[in-house]
Amino acid sequence: MAKHILVTGGAGYIGSHTCKALREAGYDPVAYDNLMYGHEWAVQWGPLIQGDLADKDALSRCFAEYAPEAVIHFAAFAYVGESVDNPSKYYANNVACTLNLLDVMREHECKKIVFSSTCAVYGAPESLPLAESHPCNPISPYGRSKQFVEQILADYGAAYGLRHSALRYFNAAGADPSGDVGEVHDPETHLIPLALRACLPDASPLKIFGMDWDTPDGTCVRDYIHVSDLAEAHLVALRYLETHRSGTFNLGNGDGHSVMDIIDAIEEVTGRQVNHIEGPRRAGDPARLVADASLARQHLGWIPQYPDMTDIIRHAWEWMKQHEEADA
Ligand code: UFG
Repeated sequence: MAKHILVTGGAGYIGSHTCKALREAGYDPVAYDNLMYGHEWAVQWGPLIQGDLADKDALSRCFAEYAPEAVIHFAAFAYVGESVDNPSKYYANNVACTLNLLDVMREHECKKIVFSSTCAVYGAPESLPLAESHPCNPISPYGRSKQFVEQILADYGAAYGLRHSALRYFNAAGADPSGDVGEVHDPETHLIPLALRACLPDASPLKIFGMDWDTPDGTCVRDYIHVSDLAEAHLVALRYLETHRSGTFNLGNGDGHSVMDIIDAIEEVTGRQVNHIEGPRRAGDPARLVADASLARQHLGWIPQYPDMTDIIRHAWEWMKQHEEADA
């Protein structure tokens, strides 16, 4: 019999791609999502339970109905700037609601969780590439909310035997290569979709957040990882918990791409110009973030299938064209 996996935030960007990967691997994903930022159309590989993590009774009914073998926990707010302006919203949703989830898991004796963490737990890098051993000094309430949950998971492991994998993503990008699902955020703040949008006729220009950083071309450098590779990492992190109590893994390609590199790659892939202007630096942006993801390779056997920026951008572009046409 297939195993149910509860996917909180299963209607979101990375959650929906992970539901597809779970289904293809023979699991039965059950998406639990309040649809505040998620999309009903993105839930295609199992049932959608529309509910909030604040609602313990609804969550408990969901566990009673599906008896999930494990949880993959994406549901969280993820706008770094907003977290600085409104930390209460972030701690309530990302931390307190996660406690609800963990307590309902305990009640139903569900003992495994894969947690969606972030490279924002590191704060400003002291050295690069960033390995998991780098000190965690997050500089935003968003990053701190994720760090707190990582610590809570360790405590729950020691006290209650909960097993967990914490996956620290670098910059998720791209879309499902077959076009079933892709990135749609409202508001959109991420570089690649905004730069692709800036290729469309009559679009407003992409604003580059600073061209005076201490990097080779003056623009910020990030480590972009294909969303389908992230999805695959959740599968291997889930299997890892069959034989291990806990693990924390960076997920990135280990390559740094500047904002200008991304613009050049987009122009190459699309054959169009990215209309862009220079803007001021965005508060809280580190100059460079690049992952050392060798632990995930060694311990999870995770090998990204789409490390090439051209593939990441091509899939994102195909998705955007299809999605814009559907909206037109
Ligand atoms: N950028 C621009 N213009 C834009 C948008 C982004 O120049 O309109 C630049 C940013 O300054 C940054 C790079 O493009 O240098 C990537 O920015 P994104 O907003 O796409 O991604 P971030 O690196 O800010 O954020 C990601 C995740 C967060 C996570 C953070 C950790 O989306 O969830 O990494 O640093 F917290």
